[in-house]
Amino acid sequence: MHCARRQFLKTTAAASLTAAMPVRWADATDLAPDSKIKFRFAVASDLHYGQPATPFAEMTDEMVGWINGEKRTKGLDVLFLNGDLTHDSSSALLTLRDKHLSKLQVPYHAIKGNHDFVDAQAGSPTESWQAVWGYPSNRAIVLGDFVCIMADTTAPAKADVYLAADIDWLRKQLASHRDAAAIFVLIHIQQRAHRVDGWPPHGVHDLNEKTKGEAVMKLLESTPNVRAVFHGHNHLETGVYVSGERRYFFDSHVGGSWGGKRGYRIVEIYEDHRMVTYQVNAQDDAISHRHELPG
Ligand SMILES: [Fe+2]
Repeated sequence: MHCARRQFLKTTAAASLTAAMPVRWADATDLAPDSKIKFRFAVASDLHYGQPATPFAEMTDEMVGWINGEKRTKGLDVLFLNGDLTHDSSSALLTLRDKHLSKLQVPYHAIKGNHDFVDAQAGSPTESWQAVWGYPSNRAIVLGDFVCIMADTTAPAKADVYLAADIDWLRKQLASHRDAAAIFVLIHIQQRAHRVDGWPPHGVHDLNEKTKGEAVMKLLESTPNVRAVFHGHNHLETGVYVSGERRYFFDSHVGGSWGGKRGYRIVEIYEDHRMVTYQVNAQDDAISHRHELPG
């Protein structure tokens, strides 16, 4: 029986998993050979287009090549750019969009990061996320059987502000999609505070936001069809953290001046709704942190 063959991992990457939480991930090599992928997407974060003293244009074109390669070789339905597409420059959003992301051969969706500055000047082409991308910075979209929720955790133009997601808006989205086969939530800033309960640095840190962030996580963890949460912002993290019954994934970074190996995360949903996800260390053409979540 397939389930019996699964090797249940107790604490792989123990430092990456909250202690004492039940871990139900199985080894992805246990997938039945005839499994078919129903929905395949990528999450890439932290391009930091325009950051001084970095080869930001080259790194961006390289990412476009990696993603188009995924489309060409394995098929890819959509790309999520999980925040910090740019680096403290509202005009960079337009250059990035028109000069580089226009070369992507898959649909993409942009989540606002703390370094993505919009312009306070009314009438500016970058006066809001809506003005740049045609959709707001809090947004839910239906893609086939699945719903993807993208939540803003940033200030319009101040890089060091890390916010909790708008829980009232989020609650409404989750309620209105309670019958979806699965919900994927993309949030640039980690909602758990810096180094709390074994979590990594760079989460929310203001006292008020810490309380709100924990409430957001509690909501995500008590909503049965939330399948996974994806964070950007931390350029060093490529793994998974567990809280409650929920998995929170990181995907390193594709640009910027610091961090680990550059790359992105792939998520594959199979016809039986099992989910496999892994990090692609694109610099070395290697895969890591591969896990399966049973359907
Ligand atoms: Fe960030």
